[in-house]
Amino acid sequence: MAQQPPKIYVTRQLPEAALAPLRTCAALSVWESEQAVSRETLLHELRDTVALLSMVTERIDDDLLDRAPQLRIVANMAVGYDNVDVPALTRRNIVLTNTPGVLTETTADLTFALMLGIARRIGEGERRVRAGQWPVWSPFVFLGTDVHHATLGIVGLGRIGAAVARRAQGFDMRVIYHNRGHNREAEEQLGCTWVDMDTLLSESDFVVVLVPLGPETHQLISTPQLKKMKPTAFLVNAARGPIVDARALHAALRDKAIAGAALDVTDPEPLPADDPLLTLDNCLVVPHVGSASIATRTCMATLAAENIAAFLSGQRPPTPVNPEVL
Ligand code: GLV
Repeated sequence: MAQQPPKIYVTRQLPEAALAPLRTCAALSVWESEQAVSRETLLHELRDTVALLSMVTERIDDDLLDRAPQLRIVANMAVGYDNVDVPALTRRNIVLTNTPGVLTETTADLTFALMLGIARRIGEGERRVRAGQWPVWSPFVFLGTDVHHATLGIVGLGRIGAAVARRAQGFDMRVIYHNRGHNREAEEQLGCTWVDMDTLLSESDFVVVLVPLGPETHQLISTPQLKKMKPTAFLVNAARGPIVDARALHAALRDKAIAGAALDVTDPEPLPADDPLLTLDNCLVVPHVGSASIATRTCMATLAAENIAAFLSGQRPPTPVNPEVL
């Protein structure tokens, strides 16, 4: 009897150019909707799936893996993989891959847009115009804060942080950062200065959070950290929502303990329309669009597919997260 080709399950529609190479090496099944696939459907599909191309919206945990006996590779179409229980995959010898690098510049663009947007009150201004409340020009109307020549504090200076720091050079900003270890390349090439977390919080005009989410970074920014920030400073979260304590942030923004916050990510996601953060004019929220450009999403899809294609043809996937299982 002819052997069945391995089944690949893709949890969202993706550009055909990215998926085409997979069609030749496997039976491809694609969730045909813009909405996230339901857990129930995913469990059903995984009964005979060898390779899964997943998004950040799918929770890949022990329970799911127990019901996916043939699964050998999960290619997560994101650089972050806090939606995946990596040890649970590794225990089963399942490879996890992510999509680092290809989204760096696009995510840095969005991070900078958030800084500019909250500092110059772009969201608030746009809401006023649309509501027929155009603030008539006057010397003291709708004043914001300058981004140029300000101090930028990056919490978690990796690839994306370095790309943000590079943009900051063009704005004549002073860039300080906090990582567990030093990023010598960023220090030498971009003039970034390592400081301890308290110094970063107290000296920055913009605190930009770019660390991955994990047990050590869950609610890394909460009341004590917000209290250390200047009342004129802004918080930008372009990493993962739960890194910032949403209730503490709401209180700090409401009480003007800090000047404002700009969030690409929230806790929870989606943020309900009646969330208290959305009542505040000094909070700018966009719906997790850091890597959302046409070109970059195509590159991410292509890299995720390449990881699967390489693995299924017996080669090393280009960007493994747990290479020890290979
Ligand atoms: C998106 O949030 C990513 O991690 O790529």
